[in-house]
Amino acid sequence: MPSTPLKDLFGVKGYVAVVTGGTSGLGHMICKGLVQNGAIVYVVALPSEPIDECVTELNTLAKAASTEEDDSIGLAIGYACDVSSKANIAQLAAFVTAREHRLDLLVSNAGIRRDSPKACDVLSAPLAELQASIYATSKAATDHLVRLLAAKFSRFYVRVNSINPGFVPSKMNPVGAEGNMFSNLFDKMPAKRAGQEDDIFGAVIYLASRGGSYIDGINLCIDGGRVLLANGQA
Ligand SMILES: NC(=O)c1ccc[n+]([C@@H]2O[C@H](COP(=O)([O-])OP(=O)(O)OC[C@H]3O[C@@H](n4cnc5c(N)ncnc54)[C@H](OP(=O)(O)O)[C@@H]3O)[C@@H](O)[C@H]2O)c1
Repeated sequence: MPSTPLKDLFGVKGYVAVVTGGTSGLGHMICKGLVQNGAIVYVVALPSEPIDECVTELNTLAKAASTEEDDSIGLAIGYACDVSSKANIAQLAAFVTAREHRLDLLVSNAGIRRDSPKACDVLSAPLAELQASIYATSKAATDHLVRLLAAKFSRFYVRVNSINPGFVPSKMNPVGAEGNMFSNLFDKMPAKRAGQEDDIFGAVIYLASRGGSYIDGINLCIDGGRVLLANGQA
């Protein structure tokens, strides 16, 4: 049997995708990778975000990445939405449904820490101090949620997977910025660097494309090996 060409095995051309929190950080990296590889991407962000500027940038990138033989080039479409509002989500669903016959990929990315991180030794910290980190607890809970959702949606063969990034420069986590509390941790990690756009998009394209179509209900660590040494730091 002939093997599938790589561009088809790991291709997202013509995919319809929704990316929440798509104007900054990891969401923006994922939007860039998708439009540059021929996907139609609904860039969802809070109304306060520079959605129009982001969409213009993404469409310029999509055009630049297209070739003459391309019959479809990537496209970004912006949509203002607060994903903590059920009514807003219903409106987003109606907006996409009115334009598309299907959705191939939902990247549920928005979900950030608003309070600033505090240093804490998990081996000696009192319980009250540990409980203050709702962010870390919520991120651990998503691992379980992914399996539950994958089980719930399995009868439709809608796959649910997640990526657990290590340190990736973003608005919420400005690693590399002067005085960042995590900067000295890189020396101790096997990769000895922060995560980059290709690390994140590479994982997304793998899970979303035909190459990953037999993967369901998993949490994939994209962290340069940090979890091997992190010792519980959030
Ligand atoms: N960066 C890392 O090292 C890292 C590591 C592990 C996990 N993560 C996860 O990766 C995801 C993306 O984070 P990031 O680091 O890329 O942060 P980011 O640059 O701050 O991006 C998050 C985006 O989500 C938006 N957002 C927040 N609440 C929203 C809401 N209710 N509705 C719609 N959009 C909303 C934010 O808008 P505003 O800025 O206007 O609030 C922001 O544009 C998060 O789930 C985060 O927990 C990141």
